[in-house]
Amino acid sequence: METYKVKLSKCYKALIAAAVLTLTTPAFAQYQTTAYRASILHFVDDPAVSQTPYEYYEDGVLVVGTDGKVKAVGPANTVLNNYPYIQVVDYSGKILMPGFIDSHVHYPQTEMIASFGEQLLDWLNTYTFPTEQQFSNKTYAKSVAKTFINELVRNGTTTALVFGTVSPNSVDALFEEAQTRNMRLIAGKVMMDRNAPDYLLDTPASSYTDSKALIQKWHKNGRALYAVTPRFAPTSTPEQLAKAGQLLREFPDVYMHTHLSENKAEIAWVQSLFPSSTGYLDVYNSFGLSRNRSVYAHGVHLRDDEFQSLAQTGAAIAFCPTSNMFLGSGLFNLQKAEQYGVKVGLGTDVGAGTSFNALQTMNEAYKMTQLRKAFVDDPSTVNPLKAIKAYYLATLGAARALSLENQVGSFKIGNEADFVVINPNATDLLKFRMQKTNTIEDKLFVLQMLGDDRAIQNTYVMGKKQTVNGYGSGYYQYTYN
Ligand code: GUN
Ligand code: FE
Repeated sequence: METYKVKLSKCYKALIAAAVLTLTTPAFAQYQTTAYRASILHFVDDPAVSQTPYEYYEDGVLVVGTDGKVKAVGPANTVLNNYPYIQVVDYSGKILMPGFIDSHVHYPQTEMIASFGEQLLDWLNTYTFPTEQQFSNKTYAKSVAKTFINELVRNGTTTALVFGTVSPNSVDALFEEAQTRNMRLIAGKVMMDRNAPDYLLDTPASSYTDSKALIQKWHKNGRALYAVTPRFAPTSTPEQLAKAGQLLREFPDVYMHTHLSENKAEIAWVQSLFPSSTGYLDVYNSFGLSRNRSVYAHGVHLRDDEFQSLAQTGAAIAFCPTSNMFLGSGLFNLQKAEQYGVKVGLGTDVGAGTSFNALQTMNEAYKMTQLRKAFVDDPSTVNPLKAIKAYYLATLGAARALSLENQVGSFKIGNEADFVVINPNATDLLKFRMQKTNTIEDKLFVLQMLGDDRAIQNTYVMGKKQTVNGYGSGYYQYTYN
């Protein structure tokens, strides 16, 4: 009996040792990781400054570890040789790229997208403020946050810089919803203490206290990041802008998110409210609001010295073409931003923007550069936006604008594996037109002009496939629902 016991315990030990050995061998580790095979595109630099801004592998593989991070990317043959036992998900014929990044969007405005007839200031009073009032109700806010996050997923957007409303409940609702998908989201409570209906106003003191509590609760909680969010200069007193500056000094690694130089009437109003300032940007600068991780939406009517100032401080612009067209705000000068070296990301600005879809946003960005030719003395000085630059602005460019390039926006080894699988033949017309394309740059341009949510086949967050109402993408939702 004794001997038998000894033998049994020896046997167990041997089994455990074998299991440990198996679990720690490289071959077993590879069973845990996944390879995605597709045409793979990602950016390594800005096309404005680099001759080789992107990597493209027509038959490529992206390897994602169990930690949801990028382990390898490259030609399929080479990469798969290094991972002989890996599980392969085959997306051959599809384009796989980093998830899109929306560098400016208002989630509470999801329900008022496409509201007719007004330009910025009247649009705010007529549609926006009454809509945002409802978000003090947490249950209401949660239901809209869910719809909003679903729209991001259906459109291949995996990170966004998001406005809440003045109510802290709106921010809790959004972050809670984003956390169910482990999404990297940046958001904040609006600070607004004048020139809006009473029901939406806070005070310098309450906006400081509420923002601080939200920073402590959410900033770096999982993948969540916080943005101090004064709505725009006209709706904050100097005292409140000073409080925003104080928050940035006390919490140096949070974001600052606001609007700048969007509309001509708005700019004139700012000058009358801040008569001693030398311009719109100077108002924000004088309260210490411009630095890395400061993101200004629009910048449509910036002067040269303001572009220069943005480049010097490290603040970024969110370029929101569908919104600028929809509200008739004007034509952003992307070339000037490039000349001055200002960081720019693409934004949808829903609900003034008319689409959650990055392809559609790039479509209008292209048209805006074409339209600019009609408004300059020498049209030959305006270059139409190249597809390759547009996709950069929606991925690595936006990641850089948000100082997130070491987390998302490209397939750099160690980055978080947020990515989108795009079907370049998603519609009959796309399929027909794609036959006449040769280069990847041709294909990308056609996709940007003709593609929409139907082309978004799948969206992955930290290596995890996302579904909306049980479906993997917008396309299949429409086709099979
Ligand atoms: N300026 C101040 N608030 C807003 C807003 O909600 N949307 C846009 N587009 N511009 C703004
Ligand atoms: Fe906006």
